Amino acid sequence: MCGIVGYVGRQKASTILIEGLKRLEYRGYDSAGLAVLQGDGIELAKKTGRVGNLVKEAKKHRFTGTTGISHTRWATHGGVTDANAHPHVSSDGRIALVHNGVIENYLSIKKFLIGKGYTFSSETDTEVLCNLIAYHFAKATKTGDESHFLGSVRKALRHAEGTYGIAVICTEAPGELVAARKGSPLILGVGDNEFIVASDVAALISHTQNVVYLKDGEVVHITPKEFSITTLDEEDVEAVVDRVTWDIEAAELNGHAHFMEKEIFEQPAALENSMRGRFSEDGSTAKFGGLNLGPVEFRQIDRFVFLGCGTAWHACLVAEHLIERFARVPVEADYASEFRYRNGPLSGNPLFFVMSQSGETIDTLGALREAKRKGYKVLAINNTVGSTIARETDGGIYQHVGPEIGVASTKAFTSQLLIGAMLALHVARMRDMSFADGVEYVNALKGVPDLVRRVLEQAPHIKAIAQRYAHHTDFLFLGRLSLFPIALEGALKLKEISYIHAEGYPAAEMKHGPIALISEKCPSVFLVPKSEIFNKLLSSIQEVKARRGPTIVIATEGCEFPPGLADELITIPDCHEAVLPIVATIPVQLLSYYIACARGCDVDKPRNLAKSVTVE
Ligand code: M6R
Repeated sequence: MCGIVGYVGRQKASTILIEGLKRLEYRGYDSAGLAVLQGDGIELAKKTGRVGNLVKEAKKHRFTGTTGISHTRWATHGGVTDANAHPHVSSDGRIALVHNGVIENYLSIKKFLIGKGYTFSSETDTEVLCNLIAYHFAKATKTGDESHFLGSVRKALRHAEGTYGIAVICTEAPGELVAARKGSPLILGVGDNEFIVASDVAALISHTQNVVYLKDGEVVHITPKEFSITTLDEEDVEAVVDRVTWDIEAAELNGHAHFMEKEIFEQPAALENSMRGRFSEDGSTAKFGGLNLGPVEFRQIDRFVFLGCGTAWHACLVAEHLIERFARVPVEADYASEFRYRNGPLSGNPLFFVMSQSGETIDTLGALREAKRKGYKVLAINNTVGSTIARETDGGIYQHVGPEIGVASTKAFTSQLLIGAMLALHVARMRDMSFADGVEYVNALKGVPDLVRRVLEQAPHIKAIAQRYAHHTDFLFLGRLSLFPIALEGALKLKEISYIHAEGYPAAEMKHGPIALISEKCPSVFLVPKSEIFNKLLSSIQEVKARRGPTIVIATEGCEFPPGLADELITIPDCHEAVLPIVATIPVQLLSYYIACARGCDVDKPRNLAKSVTVE
């Protein structure tokens, strides 16, 4: 949800700023822009559309400066226009600013500034903040305040309500950049006589792996030689420099057509990484280093609450199923966005888990804060080291799948499914699951990368099916029990990247309403594992066929179907219940991906979406 980059160093800033934007484009792609300090002024280029448009626009300028800021936008306040694109420059021309977030009280500040003679050329909240900084800067200049650039940013931010990750430059502070965050991510890359601030490590990793994860309320002041961090109240903050464990290779396409394709095919390795070092020596249970809960405390938990949004919520639903099924402990899986405002009663001794790939989703963060406010312990299943959610929880489990860049979540999802399955085992073995069952379960988990590899080998078959069905405009995805969330996920993937209307439903519920949609124009994707309800699923498929609905059946190898029931058949290997949702996910990911490709959609940058949603 908007990506920002700022550079101070000895190189040509524009090259680094644009390169950074290309890596952040998944965060928003309504418009892009950059501003560089040059001579006595600011050289500015911005354009609606992709970073590619900005690159063309930038060619009309001569960027030479070594300090600058850039932005890729996911529109909130104001339409998608060149004027609303960032960076914004104050009406006196002294300050330029890029912003990720929302300044909620911008209207009252704007009124105040108009009264002081400031003018506005966009509809954005960001331009208001930019002019507010300019206002404080102009005041400080008059009084001869020496640190007035940094000071005026701090003063303006004290009045700003809402969320922000910002980077600011000033014509009268050459070689300086001020950046700050509250509710939006911001990372400082510490290079060799150069510094880069960015919304995500991906934008700076080709320059340095040494980073400082800035915290809410912190302001960093950068000069070509050094940086310092303070709070809005001017207290010094000691910087902790971390080392990023992945390198630029992980953020490259490496021959794939899209990041989504790359990430789908990375899943065997990603699952290995999520499991590594997380089994007990006797091979009968899972162990996690970061839960910060002793066995006695863990044993006292009588209920789990899982919260997440979108795809992560689907993973919560699977965790609910597996923990209840194997550990017999009640679990509630809720949308983080609903939990936060529902204020439902919570009894007993629950343990909360929030699931979030990015660790920055504002709805999930809000739910986490609400649960903590009520005095509950909250842990996270999260893929982004140093993210806000990772920092604010009481502990948790990192997914370790490397950066996920495709907007449609794939490898992060299957890793969340895996960690949910491992948690179910962990809880079950603390209760009634036998040693032998635990060993069988662990072996099933260890085997999942190979099972996923086997399904991936069917990609050409799934691609051919996708091409035959890509012209349809409605799809149903139907599954039961632990595969109902996978039906939801299949429908979400298809909606997100191919703009086809799709619904996920529990297969047996289809006859209670969605059956009205069935016709030769609406294919149904059935998830049919070998199980005690196989015959029930068969009946649901019969009901669709009786109404001339096309059927794409994803079934366990060896399942037999009466002739003509499955128009298309995709098989998955027979497997343990704990890993079934992971294995069944792969075909729905591939199907959506290839349908989107067949329709010529921009898979990695679907319209209206952004990778991490940092507004409510
Ligand atoms: O980063 P998070 O896991 O918190 O993101 C939650 C959702 O926004 C995300 O899963 C979204 O639904 C994806 N685009 C799904 O592909």
